Amino acid sequence: MALARAFAPGKVILLGEHSVVYGHPALAGPLEQGVTVTLDSSDSGLLIKCPVDAPQLTSAVKRCASLFRLTDVSVELGGDLPQAVGLGSSAAVSVALVRAFAAATQLNMRPQGLLDRAMELESEFHGAASGVDHNVSFERKLIRFVKGRRGQPLVLPKAVEAVVWVVEPRGSTREKVAALRRRREYEPEPVDRIFQRIGELADSAVEALERGEVARAGHAMDENQRLLDALHLSTPGLDAEIRELKSLGALGAKLTGAGGGGSVVGLFEDADPVVARLVAEGKRAFVARWEATE
Ligand code: PMV
Repeated sequence: MALARAFAPGKVILLGEHSVVYGHPALAGPLEQGVTVTLDSSDSGLLIKCPVDAPQLTSAVKRCASLFRLTDVSVELGGDLPQAVGLGSSAAVSVALVRAFAAATQLNMRPQGLLDRAMELESEFHGAASGVDHNVSFERKLIRFVKGRRGQPLVLPKAVEAVVWVVEPRGSTREKVAALRRRREYEPEPVDRIFQRIGELADSAVEALERGEVARAGHAMDENQRLLDALHLSTPGLDAEIRELKSLGALGAKLTGAGGGGSVVGLFEDADPVVARLVAEGKRAFVARWEATE
């Protein structure tokens, strides 16, 4: 029997990527897909079994083992979350690692302590992450998130459904965030105006979803996409798939995550038939669904 096993989900940002780094609100929810970490005892120190050979993953595992002072252990990473396409895989790794090590060492840590450790691991991947990915992966709920605070779960009168479509590979989040930071230094006012507006849109989508007005949240996502495009974060590939989601009836559609490739997300009244159609055409798409809370 394994010493400990933990799962942490990936995430999809519905509104607010990038502006969230500068203190504006974002709206994001967990996926069914995620990362699993299995710990077993080991006679030969720290062993890492990982499906992909990524130095950051190895560093994150080592850092976690040293944080929890548990080094005679084998750590196996697995799961079904697509990597490096804007779906929060590095945060899911960090959260799953911390949960597994806390269980193995029987540390009864407070949620905030676990989250702080997961954020500490994230520095192996990201640099200056806002924390939105971790909070979603940790809370496992659709949340409104503001940097530096715990995510607030939405109160949903009806279920919310989205189609997530993995479009193309992309570069690192760290580089995208740094490029935008340089652009903001060069022309702060227009960039800050865009960030401010994206934050307002995120809040209007939160309010809309809490009233069951999904179409209004969709309009906010469409405007968010136009603003991300103005920041040069979209690509012809993403634009084409966003148009296709709209033609399939999306109430709103946009890129999700750091941009420059990756994935798109569309809000739908009924996401299942759309995903069935895309998958039948050989596309990599799935449903994200958040149940009503009242
Ligand atoms: O995890 P990614 O690559 O989907 O992007 C995270 C969202 C950003 O706002 C671009 C960065 C952050 O730390 O919030």
